[in-house]
Amino acid sequence: MLFRMVADSEAMSRVELHDDFVRVFTPEGAAERHADFHLRWLRHNCDVDRHPTTGERTIDSAELPDELALGSAAVDDGVLRVTWSHDGRVSRYPLEWLRRHAYATDRIEVPRPPSDVRALELDGARGLEAITSDLLSRLEKVGAAVVRREHDRPEAETEAWIDVLGARGLRIIGTHFGRIEDLRTDNTTNTNIDQLGYTNAAIELHTDQPFLDEPPRYQLLQGIRDANQGGDTVLVDGEAAFRYLQSLDRDAAELLLRTSIRFHRKQKNFEREVISPIVTIRAGRVFVRSSYFTEAPYQLPFDRMSAWYRAHDQFVRILRDPRNHYAFRIRPGNVLIYDNHRMLHGRTEFSGARWLRGVYFNATGTSSSDDETSG
Ligand SMILES: [Fe+2]
Repeated sequence: MLFRMVADSEAMSRVELHDDFVRVFTPEGAAERHADFHLRWLRHNCDVDRHPTTGERTIDSAELPDELALGSAAVDDGVLRVTWSHDGRVSRYPLEWLRRHAYATDRIEVPRPPSDVRALELDGARGLEAITSDLLSRLEKVGAAVVRREHDRPEAETEAWIDVLGARGLRIIGTHFGRIEDLRTDNTTNTNIDQLGYTNAAIELHTDQPFLDEPPRYQLLQGIRDANQGGDTVLVDGEAAFRYLQSLDRDAAELLLRTSIRFHRKQKNFEREVISPIVTIRAGRVFVRSSYFTEAPYQLPFDRMSAWYRAHDQFVRILRDPRNHYAFRIRPGNVLIYDNHRMLHGRTEFSGARWLRGVYFNATGTSSSDDETSG
């Protein structure tokens, strides 16, 4: 949450500026209450747009620009004063008037997706087996874990990771790339490498293999060789992002749940597609499929397309907001493991001989319609 706070020292009222709304705090006895007001609502109710003698409103909200920008807001002498940066206007709202017309009093805010990498990190010096319980509990709780570990030849440790995780119920699955992926620009060990992962290009946030009926549940990414420049990893918690969207725009969130689109992966020697919503709820958990490079052109009814784009873009803008990201480097020897049904991942462009190893897992006992046929 990014906001500024300006206090009215006499009345002890204060205001916070958020992205799309203003929160006004007012004292009530020993307690403090707050009310949230959308920027659009505030501008629609600007005191300047009133007839000077009758006091009637002189504009309709439809006359306002789609984008409103707020420069500053302060409470002074019982009045909220807002300065709009897009046209320089100053609007005034007596606190008593705001209190009478409040529509979101004491609203509890859903937090943004978390971004503190320390919540993911584990010290791998204890050894693989000693750390696995902590790793699996982080994976369950926050959707990912990063093991900070050094090794002279990390590539010699990949099988040990597979064994340790296998003993704890994570079954390795092959994909159309093979059993273990060598994510490097000079790849010689995998099939179907005509895709972004094997280049040095930036890859925006996505989930892996949304075009399968059952995408792999987990991916392990092991650092083997560092990039000269770039190659940073970015993760975002898709479940937290969706809950955040629900709190801002429930209709947009519901549209994501009930609109199916086509995911289509077509490579030289591989093709697969699936029709599914981007977000589904499974046993109370949010399951995200999202990759801009495998979405087929949308074919929705004409009268649903505009609303769909608004909902979709709103969700992806939350996902892509750097304030909502875990950003870190997978160093040689380090291991990232993430829940591919919950977390989206991406990387920055890089130069040099960066080499990551990728291994997919499902939980033992879960079925995947694709892991045998696509390998
Ligand atoms: Fe990926």
